[in-house]
Amino acid sequence: MSQEKKKIRQRHEKRETEEKISEKNEQTDRVEPKYGPIPRFPYQKVWSRSILILGVLLIVWYNSTQSKEVSLARQREVLLSRTQNFDCPQDYKEDLDKFPECVPEKCGRIVTDKLVSTSETDVLLKIAVNGMNLGGSAGGASILDLHSGALSKGAHFINIFSLEEASRIFNPPDFAIYKVVKTKIHHAIAHHFGVDVGKIYLTKPTFFSRMTNVSAKTIHDEYWLPHVDRVSYEHFHYTSLLYLNDYERDFQGGRFIFIDKNNVNSTVEPRKGRLLMFTSGSENLHAVERVTSGTRYALTVAFTCNSEAAISDPTFGKSVKNP
Ligand SMILES: *[C@@H]1O[C@H](CO)[C@@H](O)[C@H](O)[C@H]1NC(C)=O
Ligand SMILES: *[C@@H]1O[C@H](CO)[C@@H](O)[C@H](O)[C@H]1NC(C)=O
Repeated sequence: MSQEKKKIRQRHEKRETEEKISEKNEQTDRVEPKYGPIPRFPYQKVWSRSILILGVLLIVWYNSTQSKEVSLARQREVLLSRTQNFDCPQDYKEDLDKFPECVPEKCGRIVTDKLVSTSETDVLLKIAVNGMNLGGSAGGASILDLHSGALSKGAHFINIFSLEEASRIFNPPDFAIYKVVKTKIHHAIAHHFGVDVGKIYLTKPTFFSRMTNVSAKTIHDEYWLPHVDRVSYEHFHYTSLLYLNDYERDFQGGRFIFIDKNNVNSTVEPRKGRLLMFTSGSENLHAVERVTSGTRYALTVAFTCNSEAAISDPTFGKSVKNP
């Protein structure tokens, strides 16, 4: 190697080390970010803005698909009447073709706290409590049907009128109140749905119910399963529920829930003497929320357009004498 070349090479190497040193100095001069280097990539601003916009859109979308709960009636409210009306679905209309005078003006739901008095409700509650005490399901739901005499007992049903005690706990004045209340409900349904009172008939099962938090033992105990009344009972056209005691006072849970389209639930909180009436078709899919504590009492009164499915009022003397 010539002297000349060696010199050039040395100079070159020197420059390289000098460069390295200055680079090092530059690095130590820069302020080190606390949480490590900030990542940088091309079009950073565009990206971060897109992500922000996407995030906002996601929140809007999430809120619009989020399930909602609408209160139709709260326990503390005293309602003259509150209504949710809508056009009847096709399947319900088709069924009613056979009974043209029985078609409601609108399908829907009505709640009123003004039809049944407190003293009438007290009598019905007494019938329910005393009657159920003679039987009672082993699970969380018991029924007492005064028309057939059916009373839940363990996993089965017995006829309450075959029991000696029935004649001691039931009496004609109480049965008369039961009949008065049933007639009031009959007229209220006809009035609110715009049908002739003579075109709808009391039908079975019409019964008292008692619900608790005891776990289900048979399918009859699973009152929280969503259902359509007309699917369970083909001849039902109008269903009503009279609440005999109070949500959040006598029991927790046990709200009545209409399960509507688009994940919307309409809830009714039971209130003593509150009457809920609704058309029995697929427009009114519903469930009762599980009772978490206490005991919930209600009376279900059903009506049909089909005179062949009509039932008569319970007659105290006859029922007790001829079980
Ligand atoms: C609506 O009610 C049903 C039946 O009780 C329940 O499964 C569902 O979670 C409820 N949805 C909302 C939004 O509360
Ligand atoms: C069931 O209800 C009773 C009161 O009625 C309460 O004491 C009990 O803790 C409840 N059980 C459960 C599992 O919630």
